[in-house]
Amino acid sequence: MENMKIPAHLAIILDGNGRWAKKRNRERSYGHKVGFENIYKIALLSRDAGVKVLSVYCFSTENWSRPKGEVDYLMSLPLVFKKDINSYVKEDIKVIHSGRLDRIPKTTKDIFEESEEKTKDCKGLILNICFDYGSLDELKRGIEKIIENKVEDIKDDTIFSYLDTKNLPPVDLLIRCGGERRLSNFLLLQSAYAELYFIDVLWPDFSKEDLHEAFIEYNKRDRRYGGIKE
Ligand code: IPE
Ligand code: IPE
Ligand code: MG
Repeated sequence: MENMKIPAHLAIILDGNGRWAKKRNRERSYGHKVGFENIYKIALLSRDAGVKVLSVYCFSTENWSRPKGEVDYLMSLPLVFKKDINSYVKEDIKVIHSGRLDRIPKTTKDIFEESEEKTKDCKGLILNICFDYGSLDELKRGIEKIIENKVEDIKDDTIFSYLDTKNLPPVDLLIRCGGERRLSNFLLLQSAYAELYFIDVLWPDFSKEDLHEAFIEYNKRDRRYGGIKE
């Protein structure tokens, strides 16, 4: 990936876990398990490529509408950080969370908080786990705080400073795997000028080659931010 422009903030909608499992005649939960494990591999590859922030969409505010058994299983997945967190420390990856912490099980919330604390000095990559996350919910919570703090002079930066991602740069490249071509309420404001990349590969299969392909495509894009080409 030499001589390539690498996105500082890469965001991925990791979709297709259920279909991946179905193709193998397995339960959807198996796809979620393998999908969650793939995050670590892609985090290492992103870090090595020079990405600074990797945001992964793992559970949306809309995913609560799934059957209780599937939701319960998804809620338990972050618990793998309990045993894996030392690997993240060793690999210099800071793990943070975006989204709500007030509706998920306490054990899951505690794991996010512990992971953030244990990896707080890591500098190689920020891995932003978006879990019980939705852009509309994030904005609503931000607006509530703005009103509570009686902020009167609202600048562009003020709005961003009230989002969960307040310390992160805007998204440069947003990848959605799994074949759908929509954003499903993910980092909508943060991706205002992100390059969008959609692929059919199902998330548990998403590989080093797929990441590389995405970066090649990103390098072909002309980012004008509303300006004109000189
Ligand atoms: C993505 O995989 C993970 C979550 C949304 C939690 P899906 O569970 O949406 O998998 P498909 O899209 O049904 O294949
Ligand atoms: C988006 O996938 C949410 C996550 C990947 C966490 P979904 O499978 O929930 O999205 P829709 O329902 O196809 O838009
Ligand atoms: Mg899906």
